[in-house]
Amino acid sequence: MNGISYLSMFLEPVKPWLDDPAVSEIMINGPGNIYIEKGGHLTKVESAFPSEPALQAAANNIAKSVGRVLNDEYPRLDARLPDGSRVHVVIPPLARCGTVVSIRKFRQDSLSPENLVKWQSISQEMLDYLASLVRKRRNILVCGATSSGKTSILNVLSSYIDPADRILTIEDSCELQLRQPHLVPFETRRPDKDGKGEITFRDLLHSALRLRPDRIILGEIRGGEALDLLQAMNTGHSGSMSTIHANNARDSLLRLETCAMYAGFDLPLNAIRNQVVAALEYVVHTGRLDDGSRKVLGISRVLPLDHGEYALADEWVWRQTGTDENGRFTGEFCRTGD
Ligand SMILES: Nc1ncnc2c1ncn2[C@@H]1O[C@H](COP(=O)(O)OP(=O)(O)OP(=O)(O)O)[C@@H](O)[C@H]1O
Ligand SMILES: [Mg+2]
Repeated sequence: MNGISYLSMFLEPVKPWLDDPAVSEIMINGPGNIYIEKGGHLTKVESAFPSEPALQAAANNIAKSVGRVLNDEYPRLDARLPDGSRVHVVIPPLARCGTVVSIRKFRQDSLSPENLVKWQSISQEMLDYLASLVRKRRNILVCGATSSGKTSILNVLSSYIDPADRILTIEDSCELQLRQPHLVPFETRRPDKDGKGEITFRDLLHSALRLRPDRIILGEIRGGEALDLLQAMNTGHSGSMSTIHANNARDSLLRLETCAMYAGFDLPLNAIRNQVVAALEYVVHTGRLDDGSRKVLGISRVLPLDHGEYALADEWVWRQTGTDENGRFTGEFCRTGD
């Protein structure tokens, strides 16, 4: 029996949604409480695992399939299903409602630039603009809230990289799908059960810099690796890209500097800010709107510091004008810069 059919036996209660390509996420909050995301909207579904032990058996089998364990000592799990879907699990007593599982489904090719334009997640003009930034080797940060489409946009941006470039990617769970031939993908490693063997973003970034990259793509900035990435961007690795969790372009720069401080070098704030604005050139802001759609809400250019504060110039913004008969927001992607 192959991996996915073996696991799907345990995941039987959620199988219809695992098989439904229109479902993007399955959220299990204990055995009797299951939600799905479809078309950007969350819905509770009438299905349940027979019991908490049955749900735990499913979670344990997911852990086993990636050579990990779930127990009191390791009550959280990041894993991928054999089809590439991303899974996160938290077990009781940390999860108070029973085992919690979230499955972010892997989409084959559907998040193509063409589809993003068709779904009005971005306009063709904006996409062409972003493609030209990538080709001109601008350093770009994609920001947005959880599940707003950051990684998907990073994937699309990466598709515009010259196939001749040597690209090093670093992620903690491989989600990027680059097609360029000269690709060196790295994945971080969690510590083993004795707390040993952890390989972090920072470690892999150090290796990446010694491996003659033309471009470095970091899946997500969450900590001290921010400083290493800024330094890489400032020392000839232009055309590097990453994502960060922040609600707007300005906040993303503030969060980037906070992450850079985690590197622990005690650099003065002003020195970090100077590095941020010298390194980063554009911020792309993604969002999930109340009508369930995901959009690129803006593209901003990073300006020099203004009296020690960040300054940004909006180049493109999404302006909502109304709501259509299906409850979908209407509006325009507007070019604001010159
Ligand atoms: N423009 C879009 N239209 C419809 N669905 C989208 C769009 N962009 C992303 N999605 C879907 O939304 C979900 C979240 O996307 P993605 O993983 O890119 O978000 P993220 O911001 O990187 O999330 P996280 O904060 O968890 O890293 C995925 O299921 C993805 O397929
Ligand atoms: Mg992401």
